[in-house]
Amino acid sequence: MNLPDLCIAKDRQKTPISYLDIKHDYQPVFKNKKYFLRTYGCQMNVHDSEEIKYYLEALGFEATDILDEADVVVLNTCAIRENAKDKVYGYLGRCKHLKKLKPDLIICLCGCLMEQPHEIENLRHNHSYIDIIIGTHNLHDLPALIIQKSPVQQIEVFSNSDQVWENVRYERDSKVCAWINITYGCDKFCTYCIVPYTRGRERSRKMENILQEVQELKAAGYQEVTLLGQNVNAYGNDLNLGYDFATLLEEVAKIGIPRIRFVTSHPWNFTDQMIEVIAKYDNVMPYVHLPIQSGSDAILKKMNRRYTIAEYKELFHKIKAKVKNVAITTDIIVGFPNETAKDFQATLDIVKECEFDNAFTFIYSPRVGTAAALMKDEVSMAEKQKRLKQLNDLVNSYSLKSNQKLLGQTVKVLVTEASEKDQHKVCGYTETMKLVNIEGGQDLIGKIIDVTITEAKSFSLDGIVKEKVLTK
Ligand code: SAH
Ligand code: SF4
Ligand code: F3S
Repeated sequence: MNLPDLCIAKDRQKTPISYLDIKHDYQPVFKNKKYFLRTYGCQMNVHDSEEIKYYLEALGFEATDILDEADVVVLNTCAIRENAKDKVYGYLGRCKHLKKLKPDLIICLCGCLMEQPHEIENLRHNHSYIDIIIGTHNLHDLPALIIQKSPVQQIEVFSNSDQVWENVRYERDSKVCAWINITYGCDKFCTYCIVPYTRGRERSRKMENILQEVQELKAAGYQEVTLLGQNVNAYGNDLNLGYDFATLLEEVAKIGIPRIRFVTSHPWNFTDQMIEVIAKYDNVMPYVHLPIQSGSDAILKKMNRRYTIAEYKELFHKIKAKVKNVAITTDIIVGFPNETAKDFQATLDIVKECEFDNAFTFIYSPRVGTAAALMKDEVSMAEKQKRLKQLNDLVNSYSLKSNQKLLGQTVKVLVTEASEKDQHKVCGYTETMKLVNIEGGQDLIGKIIDVTITEAKSFSLDGIVKEKVLTK
């Protein structure tokens, strides 16, 4: 067994990254068998699950949404906050019960939680009914482990993260929008965050491989690609090949796919060239997710975020000034160890000043192995919850305000899917990433259409297809 070593992650030896090709030699040996896959966490995990689906389907398994029908259960886990972990353990109870009824059931755990040594120890000792455990660096081992399934638990978690796998195949969830990994891992070590330990050192894919993937997706009819990384704008820094994220974004834009997005950008790596490329190309969407985390310089310093509020504001206003109609969203943590009332007030103040289009807000959750987990914290959970509520009320008022600005306007919407609630409706996203529910049939899916906004709520908009407005 190979356990990840937190010390190795911290030291980040700069050994050269190796680029390896996955060999695809799977046979559909499982007939009339079903798999149940549940994904927790961020877009990175969502995209990893598309890789897992590819392997399971290549082995012959068919998807099911009903746990009881499954012959294989895969839980792709997240470690970012305690509640993400609780959800996984909650689900494990149901899996254990099912395994008693179906002894041949294969239960597999993968994802970020599996990169934490203490979790593996716990699973090994207290959850021996789990068959397979793999980490975030070796998803491609899943098919072999399923075929070999033996009565003893098989644990294959690699701490080695000096590799980039190419030739990865995916069973993508959508035929309209696609995720593309451009970097893996993170070297920032924000003191609260587990990601550098679970995803390893920062490593970029080579530009030619990314561009080829975009070309293939365009040829397959995809309308939108989202470039993915924990810090997309640190792209290329590890390669020393003379290109960076702005170069990549421009080359992707030139390919001519209708919509390009990227998540997440770190304020520290945001360059003027990036802003220029976003402003220059119509197919680079005017939408930036720019996590701020706190409005207090003292807290930002303790978080090791590498910028001050003055620097963040300067960047924020530069992007607003240069990119027409841009929407900026953010992430905010409430209740970082010893956050004072004054620190929290500074967070409220920056939200009032920036009027973010949306903000994802979280109560700080200590993660074993991170620097912040060792910090003393005198603030009570009740106080943190009170602050979160106050922040959410403020954030939601600005989301509503920014949505209301669109009332009566006609905006371009890429229709992505049928509405779950109403069969006469479809939904999609504006260029600025606002969700719109539209009256219309499924023939609209995959099209970019003009939609007139008729109603604005905090979290979504309602609209009608423009021609319908004209004929009224
Ligand atoms: N790479 C991205 C975000 C990664 S995690 C970035 O740096 O911006 C997504 C968000 O989860 C973070 O922006 C942060 O707001 C939140 N988060 C991360 N660790 C957390 C923790 N320990 N407790 C609470 N929220 C956390
Ligand atoms: Fe975590 Fe910070 Fe890296 Fe984002 S930049 S993944 S918050 S360590
Ligand atoms: Fe969670 Fe891992 Fe993403 S910890 S947020 S799934 S990188």
